[in-house]
Amino acid sequence: MSNNDNYKPTTKLVHGPSHSAKWDFSHHVTPPLSSSTTYRLDSVERGARGFTEFGQYVQDDGDTPVYIYDRLDEPTRSILEGELCDAERGECCVTFASGMAAISASMSSILIPGDEVVTHRIVYGCTHSLFTNWYPKQGMPVHRADLNDITSLRALVNDNTRVLFMETPSNPTLELIDLSALRAFTDGINQDRPEGRKLLIYVDNTFATPFCQRPLEHGADVVLHSLTKNIGGFGTEIGGAVIAPKSMLVGLLLYRKDFGAILSSKSAWAIMVYGLPTLPLRLKRQQYTANIVAPWLESVEGILNVAYPGLESFPQRELALKQLRDFDDDFAPGNMIYFTVDDSIIDAKGLLNYIAKNAYSVTLAVSLGHTKTLIESPANMTHSSYTDSGAPSSTGIRLSIGLESPVDILRDLEAAVTAARRSPQHA
Ligand SMILES: Cc1ncc(COP(=O)(O)O)c(C=O)c1O
Repeated sequence: MSNNDNYKPTTKLVHGPSHSAKWDFSHHVTPPLSSSTTYRLDSVERGARGFTEFGQYVQDDGDTPVYIYDRLDEPTRSILEGELCDAERGECCVTFASGMAAISASMSSILIPGDEVVTHRIVYGCTHSLFTNWYPKQGMPVHRADLNDITSLRALVNDNTRVLFMETPSNPTLELIDLSALRAFTDGINQDRPEGRKLLIYVDNTFATPFCQRPLEHGADVVLHSLTKNIGGFGTEIGGAVIAPKSMLVGLLLYRKDFGAILSSKSAWAIMVYGLPTLPLRLKRQQYTANIVAPWLESVEGILNVAYPGLESFPQRELALKQLRDFDDDFAPGNMIYFTVDDSIIDAKGLLNYIAKNAYSVTLAVSLGHTKTLIESPANMTHSSYTDSGAPSSTGIRLSIGLESPVDILRDLEAAVTAARRSPQHA
């Protein structure tokens, strides 16, 4: 909000807008939760105006929308959207019922049959499934590539390619994509394209959150979030968000209205009141712990390739130092760690099953960015939709660091590694 522009992002996430044209709640210290499926209309003319104007106003430009029906627009969700837009420094934000609803809407609202997508070789399993099981049969081929390899990318992109899709850091391997290199490539392609047919850079920023990285500042066009993860933060709400140029706003709102995957006002309220204000605090604490756990994992015999951008050994360390910066411009490597084990020394499934049965501070569960430390096997769980050679290693393990004491996390991991260590005769 313009009147709060001089305040730090961390403060703005605590306070949100001090007032909003969306709703008069200036006497509430905590914004109220609206819960009304439908809205009283003073006249037929007001109802008609609401339908005509729906999707036409620009977020937080001072106009109070005519609210009509929750699925079109509603105040709590709308205030959250303003905050997310501000945190990512974007032009507009539209929330959805889940991260997958946001991803599919961001693509489906602009793609037409014949359009093509190029995705980074590894992304979240359901995104991969959307790209392999659905879009091709709707006439929209999706190609996989290493988006850091501009030469191979150039060979794949043609006049029909509309979207370059990636996560950076990638789920689960934490590989980073060089966004400024991709921007330069895309600008070259777009020189000859008309408005409305430009090649767009889509970044799923779920792992980093705007606290650790603002992809638009590095050249992305569209930012996506699963609010279910770090931003929601407490593991109680499912949601998603698209932060996009204003030119995409009407399409996104109309798509959400007609396909119907809205974020409930109750979830929006919880994300706004609990998730956003605590985001910097949680991430800083989780990062502190990840910076203890990752070096410890590196020191364990039988654990290989510990990927954590905070490690000196991280293969893309320089890019990490450049792209992963928090609101104070400090290095922000995040709370996610990925490692593989040498199967002849440590039984990966045995390690996870030991945790499932015995650990208190580490939980075997999918999802991430939770108050609790979560561990999982991507090849068997979140990324099981990869059925070819692009699948993550069967001995790969993803760790999402929570808010527990690092001492206890290490204690539970150490016990699991010891229990899963193969006896010499198995080696
Ligand atoms: C990087 C990433 N993007 C998107 C999603 C999908 O989010 P949701 O479960 O909210 O649909 C996930 C879920 O794990 C994810 O990890």
